Amino acid sequence: MENDNKPERIISAKETNGDKQLDMTLRPKKLDEYVGQEKIKDNLKIFLQAAQGRGEAIEHVLLYGAPGLGKTTLAHVIANELGANIRITSGPAIEKSGDLAAILTNLGEGDILFIDEIHRLNRTIEEMLYPAMEDYALDIIIGKGPSARTLRLDLPKFAIIGATTRASLLSAPLRDRFGITYHLDFYEHNDIENIVNRSARILNVEVGGSAASEIAKRSRRTPRVANRLLKRVRDYCEVKGDGRIEDDHCLSALKMLEVDELGLDWIDRKILEVIIDKFAGGPVGLNTIAAATGEDMATIEEVYEPYLMRLGFLDRSPRGRIVTDIAYKHLGRKKPMQSNLI
Ligand SMILES: Nc1ncnc2c1ncn2[C@@H]1O[C@H](COP(=O)(O)OP(=O)(O)O)[C@@H](O)[C@H]1O
Ligand SMILES: [Mg+2]
Repeated sequence: MENDNKPERIISAKETNGDKQLDMTLRPKKLDEYVGQEKIKDNLKIFLQAAQGRGEAIEHVLLYGAPGLGKTTLAHVIANELGANIRITSGPAIEKSGDLAAILTNLGEGDILFIDEIHRLNRTIEEMLYPAMEDYALDIIIGKGPSARTLRLDLPKFAIIGATTRASLLSAPLRDRFGITYHLDFYEHNDIENIVNRSARILNVEVGGSAASEIAKRSRRTPRVANRLLKRVRDYCEVKGDGRIEDDHCLSALKMLEVDELGLDWIDRKILEVIIDKFAGGPVGLNTIAAATGEDMATIEEVYEPYLMRLGFLDRSPRGRIVTDIAYKHLGRKKPMQSNLI
């Protein structure tokens, strides 16, 4: 089942180059503009206020959640609220211990170091981070063999904000060094609708009728997807109409993009259909699904599966993934008779 020229996956929550500029314009800068995630915001307000009251650096914060849910945005919001400088790097970008030493020794008092994809740090770098996070110190080994010695450098009091889509891949010692962990969940429908309306205001497009709600429905409860769909619908309405996003054009645009009312596209459907057709609905292992669909295993686990599970379309069992009754119904498929052997 090779697919050489896959269409662009419009509902992918992964960041593409085209997103970058859009992200910059639409990204909330203050906590008040950050829509939804109320529990995290309440908690964060207290945490920020307390830290500011004491005039100390904040504790290290770990943000985890599926792609596009607002981790990078939240890291910037935190820095902004504190009036702190933010330095940005990522797990795979820090290759050598010298890279990390250079970053850490360039930090100032109270600065924030944002490490995206922190689960992809290599082991040596991770171990160098432990004293940095705990004691604001950097241990540098000078020389080799018996004459090697360790030099301890003091670092300014800074805070790390780590972001990851895969908290389970973080080693326990690293995870334990974060004073605070926030798990970003998929957004409520209303929140996504608010994000669509907010973004439309910023982009200066009028959204009428139930268009914002229709876009929100198909956005996989993910802000990045909502913004991307809005942009595509806006383009369509500019070409086909007067630029206003009204119901008819909005629905035709969404239809053209082949995203169904639940935000599923052809890859989601393919994953479900493969499990139904080739494995009688499951249970089937993730690697087998990956092989049968031609999709990358990590991408299935990080991007497609979390949303299918959130919809209740896919269940996880010790023996593998299972397609649920409501997924059969959504796809208009009939469930085979249960075998007694299972
Ligand atoms: N809570 C939010 N309120 C409004 N817009 C948001 C929110 N979270 C994310 N966004 C929008 O979605 C885009 C993607 O968010 P981002 O922080 O890059 O996600 P992540 O880092 O988790 O992949 C941002 O550019 C921003 O415009
Ligand atoms: Mg990000």
